[in-house]
Parts: sequence; structure tokens; C-alpha cells
Amino acid sequence: RRGVALLTALVSVLACSPADAPPPVGGSMLADHNAGAPGIGDPDFPRDGNGGYDVSHYDLAVDYTPSSRRLDGVATIRAAATQELSSFNLDLSGLDVREVTVDDSPARFARQGDELTVRPARTIGDDTSFTVKVTYSGLPQPAKHNANLGTYGFIPTSDGAFVASEPNGSKTWFPSNDHPADKATFDFTITVPAGVTVLANGEQAGQPATAEGKTTYRWRERHPMATYLATVTLGAFQLRQGSTAAGIPNLAATDPKFKDSLDALYTSSGEITDYWSTVFGPYPFSSTGGVIDDYPAGYALENQTKPLYGGFNPDESIIAHELAHQWFGNSLTIKRWKDLWLNEGFATYAEWLWAEHKGGKSADAMFNDLLKRPETDPIWQYPPGRAKPDDLFNQSVYTRGGMTLHALRKAVGDATFFDLLKTWTAEHRYGYVTTEQFVDLAERMSGKDLNALFDAWLFQPKRPA
Ligand code: ARG
Ligand code: ZN
Repeated sequence: RRGVALLTALVSVLACSPADAPPPVGGSMLADHNAGAPGIGDPDFPRDGNGGYDVSHYDLAVDYTPSSRRLDGVATIRAAATQELSSFNLDLSGLDVREVTVDDSPARFARQGDELTVRPARTIGDDTSFTVKVTYSGLPQPAKHNANLGTYGFIPTSDGAFVASEPNGSKTWFPSNDHPADKATFDFTITVPAGVTVLANGEQAGQPATAEGKTTYRWRERHPMATYLATVTLGAFQLRQGSTAAGIPNLAATDPKFKDSLDALYTSSGEITDYWSTVFGPYPFSSTGGVIDDYPAGYALENQTKPLYGGFNPDESIIAHELAHQWFGNSLTIKRWKDLWLNEGFATYAEWLWAEHKGGKSADAMFNDLLKRPETDPIWQYPPGRAKPDDLFNQSVYTRGGMTLHALRKAVGDATFFDLLKTWTAEHRYGYVTTEQFVDLAERMSGKDLNALFDAWLFQPKRPA
């Protein structure tokens, strides 16, 4: 019986076509009892990430040529099975897969939509570590299917690439478990035509080496990182390197079009990183900085250690926002996208704290002004504690999310509130978080029942009384 099932499964692998219709949720194209699920279990994004394993490390070797836009990659992924696995999925959008091995043995594979299904030669035991290596190539296409999200993922530019993948664009350039609930460390070995600069997460490992007109850069992110924060931004850049007053390595990079902003980016990023370290607790990563590229994304992204600003000159407010995400979002990572206010509400509140710190408008004045918005204002209709999958980055998630924190601060007092922020970042450093955990901690630390407050601010489609 098992033999027949296996044979049927193999036939269905071979018969698999790159059909437009995604396979049914919860099932797999492989008729297979021990198949890893095609999604990690986020009900709002049922096909994002995958089930059955946890990635611990991505080793990405990528060769990219801006003139042809061709990418050649080898992704070596270390993972541990969380169930017996006769097959498992990775997320990959577009690109051609040439070969897949599992623990150095050739594996069968099939593509359907953005799912790459891998069937290793031998079933992987529960709780067993394995290494999957995917050799792939092609012309990466960014994701741009949703007005609210704009264009994201690996975005080719005239001189290189702009790489910003929130929420699920890492699959546009490497096979991954593309959901924040599976963080991992990263090594990047990126080869480009000589003269192109490569900016990835973390720190450079050794000097770039040039041979035969190509330069190879090595970067390394040693702290766990969500896939959407992984970047290899490529192009012509001016760099300024040093360290913050408190001693954190700092790297700013600007496209030539923004060279006049290099010093301000460097200085503000350093000053703000140091200040947040006093307010939110120790900086979680090994370096800080920022990158301004000339691609007009219309947004910035808090790429780990290297926030990326898309085609504009960032003011201190947005730098404060992206650097606050290093704590809220990057070190403490949401398990489900519905809790996005834990990232964006906190980063927005950080903008107000920065203004207050600099002697500008106080957070309280900001809160009071926003509260004057009429009942019909869209932020009152959209409850920020439950980000909607088709409107994830709604302004309410940012602004009303930030207001929620101010309402909390007023209810518990400054001493408890700022103690809470530091306890929150300490208790979940490098981990995963949910709204329930934050509410529980706020109640525990204040000794107050805060249910009504959080319910009114996060979950009701109306302006809190
Ligand atoms: N997290 C980013 C911020 O700090 C927003 C990213 C938006 N992503 C997108 N694909 N538009 O505001
Ligand atoms: Zn943000």
C-alpha cells in the first residue's frame, strides 16, 4: 500500500504543471501523509511560510548582473523537522529551479504557484536537522499585486537592485520559509560586476574580492532575522562608516543622487540608535545605519541593521521610526500579521517620543490633536489590533496603534509605562510576540485591569470614549 502511494505521489510530482490556480489549502500536490503543510498557519496568509520545519540558517550565494537583470543563486538552508517529513515546501516566486538536494542527495521537486515542493530521497525524521540546497536562476520579478503594498521584494533598478520585502517578498529572490514566525541567521555571498556596491544585513565578513571583472561581497547577520528584513541592496553608493557615541558600528550609504544626505543620515542614525538604547533597552544587533537608494518606493523599510529609504531624503522622524523597529518588529517579531500594530504602532509612537525628546511637540499634544479627528475619520473605523490582510499597512495600524500606547501611558503612569517598554523588549529579545502577551505584561506590571482600554483602542470600530 505504501509502495502504491509513493508511486502515485511520484507520478503526481512529475505531472505537476505550473498551473495558475494554487493547490487547495491544507493539502499538497503530493498525496502524502507526512507532507509539511504549504503554509505556516497564519490564517490571513494561508500560503505564506510552510509547516513541518524550522529554519535556523540561510546561506545565500547570489550572482547578479544589473544590465541583464539575471540572478544566479544557490540557497543552502539549515532546518530542523518538527514532524516526520516525506516532503516539505519552500516559498519561491518565479525563477527557475535547476537542482535541489537534501543532505547532499538529489531530491525531487515540483512548482505550483509560489510553492516549491521538495521530496527528499529519504523521509526526514521528526526533530532531525537537515540541509536543503536549491540551485536556481532567472530574472527576479518584484511583487506588486496590491495597491496597499505597492511594489516590494527584489526590485531591479538601473544600477542594481532595491530589496525591501515586507510582508512576503523574500520569495521573489530566494527560496525561503517566508513568514516572520520563522527567523534565522543569514550569510550572504553576493557577486556583482566590479564597481557595484552590495549592502546586506549585519556586517561585512572580510574585504570584497575582485577577479575577472566581478566582485564578491560577504555579509553576515548573526542574530535571528525575519525573511522580510533580508536585503541585498545593490548599486552605486557613497558610504560613511564609523560608530555611534555609545560605540555601535554605524554605516550609512546613499545613492549618488542623495549624496548630500549622507552625513545627516549617518549622524541622525547614530544619535537615534543611542537614544533608543536608553529608552527601549540595549540595542539588539551588532551594527546600525541606513541606506538611501534612488528607487521611488514611496516607503521605507526597517531592514535589520540597515533601514532602507526608497527615493527620498528621510527626516529624523522617519529615521526614528525605522530604528525603533530594530526593537519592535526585528528583535521582537510578530507571530501573526494581524498583530502588526506591535510593530507599526510602537514605531509611530517612537516618532512622537523623538519629537518630544528634541523639544518639539509632546506625545501628549500629538495624542490630543489626533483625538480631535471627527468620528467619520477612517482611523476610527479600522480597529488597529487586527490588521486586515488586504489592508495591512492601514494608517490606523500606525496612528491609532501609537495612540493606544499613549492611552496606556496615561492609564499606568510614566514610570510603569517606560519600565514596561524595557521589560517587553528584554523578555522577548530575539523572539516572537503576540498582542495577548503585551496586554498580559501591561496588566501584570501595572496591577490594573486594562481590558476595557485595550478593547476600546485596539478592537472597536469606533472612536474610544
Ligand atoms: N514597515 C514599513 C514601515 O516602517 C512599511 C513597509 C510597507 N511595505 C510595503 N510593501 N509597502 O513603515
Ligand atoms: Zn514602520
